[in-house]
Amino acid sequence: MEKITYQIKPRTSKIELPSKLGFGKIFTDHIFEMDYSPDKGWHNYLIKPVENLSVHPAAMFIHYGQSIFEGLKAFHTVKGDTVIFRPETHLKRLNHSAKRLCMPQIDETFVLHALKELVAIEKDWIPTNSGESLYIRPLMFGTDEILGVHPSKVYKFIIMLSPVGAYYPEGFKPVKILMQDDYVRAVRKGVGDAKTAGNYAASLLATEIANQLGYTQVLWLDGVEQKYLEEVGTMNIFVEFENEIATPKLTGSILPGITRASVIQLLKDKNYTINERLISVDEFIEAYKNGKLKGVFGTGTAAIISPVSEVTFKGNKMVINNGEESKLAVELFNEITEIQRGGIADKHDWITNVATEVTV
Ligand code: COI
Repeated sequence: MEKITYQIKPRTSKIELPSKLGFGKIFTDHIFEMDYSPDKGWHNYLIKPVENLSVHPAAMFIHYGQSIFEGLKAFHTVKGDTVIFRPETHLKRLNHSAKRLCMPQIDETFVLHALKELVAIEKDWIPTNSGESLYIRPLMFGTDEILGVHPSKVYKFIIMLSPVGAYYPEGFKPVKILMQDDYVRAVRKGVGDAKTAGNYAASLLATEIANQLGYTQVLWLDGVEQKYLEEVGTMNIFVEFENEIATPKLTGSILPGITRASVIQLLKDKNYTINERLISVDEFIEAYKNGKLKGVFGTGTAAIISPVSEVTFKGNKMVINNGEESKLAVELFNEITEIQRGGIADKHDWITNVATEVTV
């Protein structure tokens, strides 16, 4: 295994976390970083104090968006272990995004080792309240200093950590979302299923408009016809119909969410009818009118399980389940957070233990 150089700066003060953490506002003391060049491959493996980056103004990622990331979480279990939820799956998805954006592959085994080392060093930052965790953000970007459009030759890879609570300002309360067809997030055969910075930039304007109208997020429709539900941008979407739970199938323009996959598995374990399929706007509205739409919730690493209380389309407000979280959404939230915190059995091997002794 490649050797990591450790530049650890011991803290001189106690870690004090605010009672309301919010999301991504606080950062731990250290990051992992490595560099890529065609002649050396990945090299310069370093865990070091967080510091500002120094990049040339022509750096490729700033101009042409060759930038990808992941989001995963670490927890303290009720038994006092430090664990990470499905890190192998997240690193596999990072390599999928890298391939789509013409970026080099990472060695998933080594990066998992580096990730565990960093989390072990920073484990005192892991919050312990329900719904809180240490959010892990791996990112990779091209740093070639040239204005021509081509894949960068050199890259930086970083893992940073942030103690987080609820993603949305509502906390874990139901959110209101705006279904709209004025803008699209992604199209099939594009980069919608890669976790790349540009997808999030593409979502900002419509989200700003939704926020101004009092909605937390946008429910994106397919990029070609604006006929089918896709995703929310910060989470995948599930619809509880009368006799079935459905989630939009992965057509290539939807992020293949890891919480989405976990929820599908949990629903199968409970013998629910869960289908990955096309869900049209018309079907959604029809089911609502006929009282056959029982619940809507989103799934995501940051959002966990987020019940939806209202969906509005073209001025027509649909209040879901009387504005309350559905029983199923609450059950899934509890189940997933309990698996993550070791409160219930991890039947599917989703939890990876972090060694508490760092190999410095
Ligand atoms: C996540 O759920 O980890 C995400 O990446 C969504 C958002 C914070 C960008």
